[in-house]
Amino acid sequence: MTPTEDSFAPSTAEWYYPSEDISRQAYVTDYDALYKESMEDIEGFWARQAESLEWYQRWDKVLDRSEAPFFKWFVGGKTNIVLNALDRHVKTWRRNKMALIWEGEPGDKQTFSYWRLWQEVNKFGNVLRGMGVKKGDRVTIYMGRTPELIIAMLACAKIGAVHSVIYGGFSENAIADRIEDAQSRVMVTSDGAWLRGNIVELKKIADEAVKRSPIVETVIVVKRTGQPVNMQHGRDYWYHDLMALPIASPKCETEVMDAEDPLFILYTSGTTGKPKGILHTHGGYQVYTSTTLKYVFDIRDEDRYWCAADPGWITGHSYIVYAPLILGATGFMYEGAPTQPYPNRWWKMVEEYGITILYTAPTAIRGLMRFGDAWPNRHDLSSLRLLGSVGEPINPEAWRWYHKVIGKERSPIMDTWWQTETGGFMITPMPSVGLKPGSATRPFPGIDADVVDEEGNSCPPGVEGKLVIKQPWPSMLRTIYRDPERFKQQYWSTYAQQGWYLAGDAARKDKDGYFWIIGRMDEVIKVSGYRLGTAEIESGLVSHPAVAEAAVIGVPDEVRGNVVYAYCILKAGVQGSEELVDKLKEHVRHEIGPIAVPTKLEIVASLPKTKSGKIMRRVLKARAMGLPEGDTSTLEE
Ligand code: WT7
Repeated sequence: MTPTEDSFAPSTAEWYYPSEDISRQAYVTDYDALYKESMEDIEGFWARQAESLEWYQRWDKVLDRSEAPFFKWFVGGKTNIVLNALDRHVKTWRRNKMALIWEGEPGDKQTFSYWRLWQEVNKFGNVLRGMGVKKGDRVTIYMGRTPELIIAMLACAKIGAVHSVIYGGFSENAIADRIEDAQSRVMVTSDGAWLRGNIVELKKIADEAVKRSPIVETVIVVKRTGQPVNMQHGRDYWYHDLMALPIASPKCETEVMDAEDPLFILYTSGTTGKPKGILHTHGGYQVYTSTTLKYVFDIRDEDRYWCAADPGWITGHSYIVYAPLILGATGFMYEGAPTQPYPNRWWKMVEEYGITILYTAPTAIRGLMRFGDAWPNRHDLSSLRLLGSVGEPINPEAWRWYHKVIGKERSPIMDTWWQTETGGFMITPMPSVGLKPGSATRPFPGIDADVVDEEGNSCPPGVEGKLVIKQPWPSMLRTIYRDPERFKQQYWSTYAQQGWYLAGDAARKDKDGYFWIIGRMDEVIKVSGYRLGTAEIESGLVSHPAVAEAAVIGVPDEVRGNVVYAYCILKAGVQGSEELVDKLKEHVRHEIGPIAVPTKLEIVASLPKTKSGKIMRRVLKARAMGLPEGDTSTLEE
């Protein structure tokens, strides 16, 4: 590892300070003091945050380290995240406040007050109970970005069921694997979803998935697009039919949960072909997500907050669904593509709804930047107070455009580094902190983050190392569902002696203590901010009868961060052709999903491998990018 201060010195010199009116009114005006205070007594800090929430019964112990790395938070506490997200609000004036404003891609609109959302959740909770769903059962949710997705998640949580939301961009095999792993007997889906003016046929894909994972006994279907779908008698039910039954009463008892009872499983990609079921719980997760959202995005009652992620990813779970509702905020959600029908769609909605906080991903910013300033400039964006970014490092050029053209040099950008596993923001600015474009700045209070070398020594400023978290935090993943060994191995074995969490990212700190995330160190790639496992795509390719072996890499791309390149060795006797290349791409689309389709797929006779037979992806990547291949002494092609 070599010092690389020079390579990022220009941006360390570039500081941005939020305007006075924004920083002075923020909840946190002195980050350094709050951070210091939190580190002197981490448990005390989190206990104080937890006190602002409701509990059926207070915890006896804030943190239990006795079975580390299986840490437990707020032990003995009884709660339910829905108690805080909905039940408590409908007893106050907030019952009349808007919880959710929604716009569909074709332009249809819906609004939900806290009262209405609470009632819909109660009704669907009763429906699920009526279908035999019990506390601890896993329910798979595979839907587009519609209010029913949020209602389904909350209804599961309310009755103590564990939701497993699968992003609508995944296809049959990816869904089937996740259903199988979660052993989920009930699925909630919809007939379709609007995207770029077309219908994504979710029910059709769900049917294929269920064929492969016949453990599913009940499928509940939301009517969104109205095109005809196959409804299997005795298995498939329309959501609106069930919601009209007498069992769908608007009063529903909230299940009393242990703080450590599971809330959801969310599958994410790792180093092997098998996705990891990241498990989060009711207690610590509600405390952490609500605290971070409040302090980082400075949520006020008068805000109109738009997190433009998909609820099917952790960003949506934490910061579209749970944290904003716990804080009693008004959230906005949009169903479709940012460019439908024109590239001003987002800016038009910012103006129309008076959005005050916009939280999105670098890939979206770069994508919209490409269309030029004229589209945003047609709209009054002066309602915006804070901006956010998540998912991958934001390049300074996109940062500056976002800051200038969208934020009018007034709104600071909260570049939040975190992961599915961390549950909430870990390294992030707050509205009173000085910013450097491309840096996620500093750790959230209570978070002991560092960049270390192989031995665990802190790296000096400018030196690349591994990003670690040295102390537990309330919303940390509790395990990998049904695979505790993999949990220990993946996150806790590298620095087992020290007991540190390994994030899997390479990073640097600069002399001001600011963190600069470089990217994944493992076989995970980020395509348009979506996390994909190269191994998952490879096994998708190899499942095609023509393919003997496959290697997949991520190659840098200006808009999407990375794109997928795939190299396939065909089975003996199979002839390569343009047609086959197209077929293989189509196969990936079906097996995993459109986001995983390789931009380039090459049929090759051999792959660069080490003498022990491991594919050298580093060499493939260097070749793809036209760079020197580096040390190839172990190469045996
Ligand atoms: C990986 C986690 C956290 C919600 C969405 C992603 C990368 C995430 C940033 C950022 C640089 C980032 C990391 C991380 N990442 N945010 N602000 N700057 N990199 O969750 O799908 O679990 O992916 O995303 O590489 O490890 P995820």
